[in-house]
Amino acid sequence: SIPIVRTVAELRSIVSAWRREGLKVAVVPTMGALDEGHLSLVRAALERVDRVIVTLFINPRQFNNEADLAAYPRTEHEDAAKLAPLGAHMLYAPDASEMYPEGFATAVSVSGVSDGLCGAYRPGHFDGVATVVAKLFLQTGADLAFFGEKDFQQLHVVRRLTRDLDIPIEIVACPTVREADGLAMSSRNLRLSSVQRQAAPSLAEILFALAERLATGATADDVLIEARQAILAAGYKEVEYLELRADDDLAPLDAADRSTRILVAAWLGDIRLVDNVCVRPK
Ligand code: PAJ
Repeated sequence: SIPIVRTVAELRSIVSAWRREGLKVAVVPTMGALDEGHLSLVRAALERVDRVIVTLFINPRQFNNEADLAAYPRTEHEDAAKLAPLGAHMLYAPDASEMYPEGFATAVSVSGVSDGLCGAYRPGHFDGVATVVAKLFLQTGADLAFFGEKDFQQLHVVRRLTRDLDIPIEIVACPTVREADGLAMSSRNLRLSSVQRQAAPSLAEILFALAERLATGATADDVLIEARQAILAAGYKEVEYLELRADDDLAPLDAADRSTRILVAAWLGDIRLVDNVCVRPK
């Protein structure tokens, strides 16, 4: 089984002991409901360091919607059981009162990369993410931190705050893990009805087809309107955004003339799914 730690004090004393032994430490921040996407980060971390801390904290500050927070799966027991056989060394699962004690008054807010895309539709979301991630980095004092490309804008927010606050941690990005039919793994997939689950993979299919066309010279104007229609025709209720952005700084693009990401958020019934793919230049 895996040790579960609830307090900053206990976390620090364990990490200090590891440090005295000269061990290298990684942190994998999560909100639990672990699937193969999360576990791929843990495996990648285990290959790079001696000790891996997985954090499980359903961060109330990053939910801009009470119902979404209430509906978020809480499966600590199952999560711990998935981590133990992989060889992860600690599950750090603090309570909200440990993370945000009475009187807590500080927020980390990253401008620029937090604007637009998900930032435009989820006010306050990235401030909540940036604040909790900064705390987790400082609490663990890890050497490396692992994040999924699945949440591509979040990855950029985390890279920016790490640089701007001079936190001595290396951010490692891991590729999106997908179901056999292409659907990006997500804890939100558990909430899809069976009819919705059948419709869901069209989103990824449409993104991959778009990437092909952009790689062979099509412009955003040529393809994005049609792709939005295809997403709706596949059964999605609404497309929040579908955009081309630069891979390295999220700058808006009109064509894939530099290393490019296509990013999307769309609603399937009342479930909001996000995905992104890169355009590989031919
Ligand atoms: P959560 O959604 O639990 O995701 C935890 C980590 O797993 C993130 O880095 C996310 O990008 C990665 N991940 C999720 N699905 C993935 C997939 N299919 N393939 C690869 N990686 C995947 O993201 C958060 O939690 C929170 O915002 C957090 C960073 C923990 C801050 O609260």
